[in-house]
Amino acid sequence: MRKKLLVDADCGTDDAQAIMLALASPRVQLLGITCVHGNTTVENVCRNTLRVLQACSKLEIPVFKGAAKPILGNCIHAGHFHGEDGLGDAPDPHAPGLDLVQEEGAVSAMIRIVNENPGEVSLVAMAPLTNLALAVKMDPSLPSKLKRLYIMGGNTESRGNTTVCGEFNFAADPEAAYIVLNEYQCLTYLACWEFTCYSKLSWEFCDAWLAQNTDKARFMDRIYQRSIEAAQSEHLQKEFVAGTGFVSCDAYAMAAAVDDSFVVESDHYPVSVELTGTHTRGMMIMDTVGLLKKSHKAFIMKKVDMEKFKQMMMAALQ
Ligand code: BDR
Ligand code: CA
Repeated sequence: MRKKLLVDADCGTDDAQAIMLALASPRVQLLGITCVHGNTTVENVCRNTLRVLQACSKLEIPVFKGAAKPILGNCIHAGHFHGEDGLGDAPDPHAPGLDLVQEEGAVSAMIRIVNENPGEVSLVAMAPLTNLALAVKMDPSLPSKLKRLYIMGGNTESRGNTTVCGEFNFAADPEAAYIVLNEYQCLTYLACWEFTCYSKLSWEFCDAWLAQNTDKARFMDRIYQRSIEAAQSEHLQKEFVAGTGFVSCDAYAMAAAVDDSFVVESDHYPVSVELTGTHTRGMMIMDTVGLLKKSHKAFIMKKVDMEKFKQMMMAALQ
């Protein structure tokens, strides 16, 4: 039986890569993509998601529009890395229109899809966690009906990529991240920022990956140029902890959801999120000493099968 995945995304360039990785896998049935603010506005996220689905000839997969703003405060976007439109500012005149977005909202779709498939759906969250937080407030039984939850977000060494100590997805909605880490008491796997940086792919791999003679590779090459330039800029290199190479953050969470043998080593600790603090708001807390008195623990990825990752990434563009 194929794995049932539901994906929550803020479709920037690495979300696009992760979605394409899932679509390329014969083991996966993608039940839908819920969109949320994040790398860009939620409208752009819906548009970008539809463009990715079109590039993969999978426009039959339903796309749902979710939260336009975090639970508290204002949106932050990541246009400097993903482009102002979230997808490299490389517009496509033939892009599908927003009329293809489902009428049903993302939060009710998430609740409905999980309830229709109890115990079978793995949720892959690659964006600020606003939709997931709203969904658990609407239906507190939702986490108990999930098979697994995979999240790209948070950090383990207090290294930030958005604030001094905050990773983008958590810093963009700290309250939502707090709610999700504390109320989703299901099997939870985290691909945190430093781990993704330590698991970089080389620029040589990137060249070979994009040089594949396929329409999908040409699509990725077009939308990814802006992020490549940003990642190679002196300023951003400091953020990408430990050496050069490209970091397809969201693809690690997706690869873990697609293939159970992908994660080779992980830590297992209770986790939460700092909500106050001048520099630490949005920083993930990993409770290695048990002081939070939480019984629920998350698997925090440490080592993954990089050969498998390369294969999955190559296949994504074939
Ligand atoms: C995360 O932030 C976003 O910009 C990326 O898409 C990824 O989900 C990395 O911190
Ligand atoms: Ca993302």
